[in-house]
Amino acid sequence: MKKQKALVYKCSTCGHEEAKWLGRCPDCGEWNTFVETSAAVQGSGQLAGRQQVPVTWLPLSSIDADAGSRISSGIDEFDRVLGGGIMKRSAILIGGEPGIGKSTLLLQAVASAETNGRVLYVSAEESAGQVRMRADRLGIKGERIELCCTGRLEDIEAIMDAVKPVIIVADSVQTLHSDEAGLTPGTLNQMKYCSYSLISWVKEHDAALFLVAHVTKDGVISGPKTLEHMVDTVIYFEQNDGDCRFLRATKNRFGSVDEIGIFTMGEQGLSVVEDPSLLFLVRREGELPPGVATAAVLEGTRPLLVEIQALTVPVKGAMSRVFSDRLDSARVARVAATLEKHLSLRLSDQDLYVNVAGGIRITEVGVELALACALYSARTGLPIPARVAIAGELSLTGEVRPVQRIAGRIKTSANLGFDTFLGPQSESLDAPDKVVGDIKAAIKALFSDEKRA
Ligand code: TYD
Ligand code: MG
Repeated sequence: MKKQKALVYKCSTCGHEEAKWLGRCPDCGEWNTFVETSAAVQGSGQLAGRQQVPVTWLPLSSIDADAGSRISSGIDEFDRVLGGGIMKRSAILIGGEPGIGKSTLLLQAVASAETNGRVLYVSAEESAGQVRMRADRLGIKGERIELCCTGRLEDIEAIMDAVKPVIIVADSVQTLHSDEAGLTPGTLNQMKYCSYSLISWVKEHDAALFLVAHVTKDGVISGPKTLEHMVDTVIYFEQNDGDCRFLRATKNRFGSVDEIGIFTMGEQGLSVVEDPSLLFLVRREGELPPGVATAAVLEGTRPLLVEIQALTVPVKGAMSRVFSDRLDSARVARVAATLEKHLSLRLSDQDLYVNVAGGIRITEVGVELALACALYSARTGLPIPARVAIAGELSLTGEVRPVQRIAGRIKTSANLGFDTFLGPQSESLDAPDKVVGDIKAAIKALFSDEKRA
C-alpha cells in the first residue's frame, strides 16, 4: 500500500482529501473548506481505518434461508407494509415530513416488537427527557430500550458494541455525523458515510436498522433519496387532508410495495385504522348527488371502498383541463375520452374535476369503471343509485376488463351494506350482481331504471 505523506488537506464538507491546499474542493465544489489534517491512517478514502472483514464464499445450497428471519413489530399494519415484520440484517428508511409521527411510530414499534433482545434508540434530535415524555404519553415503560442522545457515529458504534441490540433506530439520519467524514455535520457525505457504517454493523451483527429521514414539505427528498439504494426497504409516511396517516413502501427487497398501513394520531400515539372504508366513504342517507360513485378498489391485497366525486363545468380556457390530484390526471383524461367516443357524451368542452373522498390516492386500475360512471353522472346530472359498488378496468375500446380479487371486493361491499355490485365477468364463483362487458352495458345497468322513473 502506498505510504502517505504526514499531512493531507481534507475538505470539511465532503471529506475529500488532497495533498496540497486548494481554494475550492474539486469533489463537492465548496470554497475554503480545506483544513490540514494528519494522515496517520494507511490507505486513502474515508473507509480507511475501518475494520476489514475477511471476505469468504459459500455454496448457495448451504445457506440457511431463515438467517434473516423476521421480528414482528407488534403492530399489524406496520408489519404488513414491511412485508411481514422487521427483517433481521436489513436497513429500513422511514421518510416523512417533520411532525408526521415517525418518532412516535418507531418508539411504539420497538416497544411492542416481539423480541427479547435489546433495542437501541439513538435520538440525536431530542433530549432523553423529551423521549421519556413521549414514552410516558404512549404508556411505554421501555425496559428493553436503551436510549442514547448523540449523533456522533463513533459514540454510537461504541454503544452498539456494548449493548448488542437487535433493533437500532437512528432518529434522524440528518443529525448523524462522524469525524471521519468531514467537519460539518449534516452534509450529504456525513449522512451517507454514517448510514453506511450503521448498515454494515447490522448486517454483521444480525440486527435490524431503522433510519429516520426528514423530508421537507415540498417533497424535496434529495438528501434521503441518496440513501434509498443503500437500504433494503424504503417507507414513506404521509398525511392526507384529514388526520389519517399512510405508511407506504416504495422499495422493499423483502416484500411487496403495494401494501399501505393506515393510522390515526390520537392522544396516546398512533392507532391502526381497522376498517379504512369507514373513513373514506361519506355516510349518505337516501340518494347520491350526481357525480358520485363508490369504487371497490384494492390497496395492496386489501379491498377498500372509496367515494369518487366528479364535477364537469364548461371550459373556461381555450382547452379543457383535468384537475385531479388523487387519481392520475392522465387516467381521468383517458377514461373521459373513452366515454366521449363510445357513448357520444361530449366531455371535451368541459373542465373535469375529480376527487377521492378522504384524500387517499388511488392508483389501482380497478377504479376506472367507477370513475367513468362518476363522470357520466356528473355530465348528465343523473345520480347513480345508492348502495351500488363498482369495480372494473376500462379499456380504450370501451370494454370492461376483469380485475384481481373480485370476490374480496364483493365481500367487503356486502359487509358495508352495499346491495348491488357492478363489475366485469369473473372466473371465481362470486360473480357481481350486475355483470357488464362494456361501458355501454354499465351505464345502461345503472341508469335505465332511473330514466323510467
Ligand atoms: P413525532 O413522532 O415527533 O413526529 P416526527 O418524528 O415525524 O417529527 O410526532 C409528531 C406529532 O404528533 C406532534 O405534533 C405531537 C403529535 N402527537 C400526538 O398527537 N399524540 C401522541 O401521542 C404523540 C406521541 C405525538
Ligand atoms: Mg422525530
